[in-house]
Amino acid sequence: MQRVRKAVFPVAGLGTRFLPATKSIPKEMLTVVDRPILQHVVDEACEAGIEHCIFVTGRNKAVIEDYFDTAYELEDVLQKRGKTKELQALTNDLPKPGSMSFTRQQAPLGLGHAVWCARDIVGEEPFAVVLPDMLTMAAGSKQRCLAQCIAAYEKHGGNIIAVEEVPPEETHKYGVVSVGKDYGATFEITGMVEKPKGTAPSNLIISGRYVLSPEILPILEKGQKGAGGEIQLTDAMKVLAAKQAFHGVRFDGKTYDCGSRLGFLSANIAFALANPEIAGEFRALLKSLVGSV
Ligand code: G1P
Repeated sequence: MQRVRKAVFPVAGLGTRFLPATKSIPKEMLTVVDRPILQHVVDEACEAGIEHCIFVTGRNKAVIEDYFDTAYELEDVLQKRGKTKELQALTNDLPKPGSMSFTRQQAPLGLGHAVWCARDIVGEEPFAVVLPDMLTMAAGSKQRCLAQCIAAYEKHGGNIIAVEEVPPEETHKYGVVSVGKDYGATFEITGMVEKPKGTAPSNLIISGRYVLSPEILPILEKGQKGAGGEIQLTDAMKVLAAKQAFHGVRFDGKTYDCGSRLGFLSANIAFALANPEIAGEFRALLKSLVGSV
């Protein structure tokens, strides 16, 4: 079985729900507590053993590339001012040279199209897809979501999709899977539908972490349009599922949909309450704020 070494991060989206901030800042660079959303998800990928991150960017996303580079002047100033802790934090987050690639999606043609744009960098090996909108937090000392997906891949092979339970009235906003043979933490996927209009096949949504075989790429190449007139990754996975196994992973932890304002705010609260440096004071502050409204 080939190891999963590469992860694709589609980051070309416009972030219209976060205007005006996203007029000049990519939505992936908005901060959750003290780190950009994108840094949180890159940390998750590195913890899962990913060695190469592929970003599919778009117009006005150049700051993402700069973010992962050395900031010479800034480091020099921090050094001269004796800000050792801050300097250390900056250098710790720097990726290994050559471990990141950037390519562009030139038109907003859908998630499937964004993943296809990474085909030459992915090559002929299984790869992960990480949707930065979905921020995951591990339960206790457990691993984060992508590591759980890769563990499931090592067990089942084929293709893996992380899922999350949502209230039935929310399913229409996501891809939804049908459950076959159930092993508890993992299960066989027997069907998928993108943004179901009527009754959804379950309340398990596709929550933004995938391990896919490279055979998905020639299917995406065909550019078949689906829900919303876009080239959907879910539709290509459905085609691939006719010849390869797909398993779902019930992520043991919590996923925050930072693509919505409420999800983004919840992520900030949850991550602040989990941060030992500020949790105590923040909890007290939150209680007083909530108590006063
Ligand atoms: C995409 C996927 C969908 C998934 C969702 C998770 O939709 O197409 O299957 O459930 O991400 O956020 P989008 O949010 O791009 O509409």
